[in-house]
Amino acid sequence: MESFVYDYPVKNYFGNGATWRALDAELPNMGERVMLAYGGGSIKRSGLYDKLVSKLKAAGKTVVGFGGIMSNPTYEKVQEGARLAREEGIDFIIAAGGGSVFDCCKVVSAQANLDVDIDSLEHGQGGAPTEFIPMACIVTVFGTGAEQNDGAVITNEETHVKAPFLGALPKWAALDPELTLTVPEEQLMSGAFDTLSHCMETYFGTPRVNDVSDDLNVAVQRNVIGNMRCLLDDPADMDVRSEFEYDSAMAENGVLKIGKVTDFQCHMIQHQYGAYTHTNHGMGLAVIHPHLYRHLAPAAPEQFARWARDVWDVEAGETDLETANRGIDALAAFIKEMGLPTTFAELGGDASDQTLSSVADSTVLTKGCAKKLTSDELFEILTECR
Ligand code: NZQ
Ligand code: ZN
Repeated sequence: MESFVYDYPVKNYFGNGATWRALDAELPNMGERVMLAYGGGSIKRSGLYDKLVSKLKAAGKTVVGFGGIMSNPTYEKVQEGARLAREEGIDFIIAAGGGSVFDCCKVVSAQANLDVDIDSLEHGQGGAPTEFIPMACIVTVFGTGAEQNDGAVITNEETHVKAPFLGALPKWAALDPELTLTVPEEQLMSGAFDTLSHCMETYFGTPRVNDVSDDLNVAVQRNVIGNMRCLLDDPADMDVRSEFEYDSAMAENGVLKIGKVTDFQCHMIQHQYGAYTHTNHGMGLAVIHPHLYRHLAPAAPEQFARWARDVWDVEAGETDLETANRGIDALAAFIKEMGLPTTFAELGGDASDQTLSSVADSTVLTKGCAKKLTSDELFEILTECR
């Protein structure tokens, strides 16, 4: 196991009604001018926006709305939010939505306090922001676990790069399963698969030996898989939704990563594919994972075989690689069973040679937990995803 320091300052309010319990407790700590940030309008349609505004106003807050944050948020939107936050002298940001709203706000929170452009600070000079407008997350769609950390992914539409940023760490998060009842089923499945992907990308980190973090990770993976099947039977089941919401937090609150080094290669590939095609994050991961793993398993057959046995209950083959491939087959069959896309065509994303080769050339190739890919091999993987 690697040495570690684990410090976890995000306060989680969990359960139906958590939003209102969180606000009752936290309103006195928010200052007077609150930015209420949201996405394309689902929170207006559900009535949540009006309820939040009433609650904030009743507590004497001035509410400044910042809406229209799109899925896979853009750098331009971040700059719009930062300008608004500065002009309005915002004391606190409440981000209500999913990963896209949270990520945008984490970087808005940092950019609003900076004189320099945060992209050049972080990616040009290798620096990091140190001052933030405090923020909190109200989760209306789960899966990314973005409310649990200070990482954000932002798309620069001019350069076609979806890059990681370091932003604000939320002070608190409300995980309120009732708020997710209006999420369309395909987005629920996308989010659930994103959680499974976070677990797998962590599990296949190093060291490859079995340890506490891997055992916990297997438990979360099995829970997500079981609950995705339950969700197909009964999309309104609140127990299932509650467990998903907790799974999604568990995958990104750092617990499963303790003692491991991860590299999130599938995410790097999906982010770049998303930067060129604007396609859905969790669904893109569903397309890429099995193909990527067929290329990685031969470099770490024991680890993939253990995962195949422990997560997918496959029978051992004659070799570790055979067992590993049975696990990957089980993953691919599960993705199909859940109605998730299995090809870029089903996902609705462009898969021309030109696009795939641009994605292969611009993806960050990580050290690779099993092995480091070349851009030629990545291009091959991407063509297999067609
Ligand atoms: O925009 P609105 O109208 O709100 O609709 C959203 C959006 O269309 C809808 N939605 C949200 N809550 C709803 C609802 N619809 C009905 N009822 C509700 N209660 O759901 C759609 C998807 O929302 P979005 O936030 O885009 O999805 P998700 O949570 O999957 O976030 C995706 C983004 O997060 C990044 C991804 O790259 C992507 O940009 N990620 C962030 C991570 C992090 N910071 O830790 C980790 C992830 O790996 C991921 O990369
Ligand atoms: Zn993800």
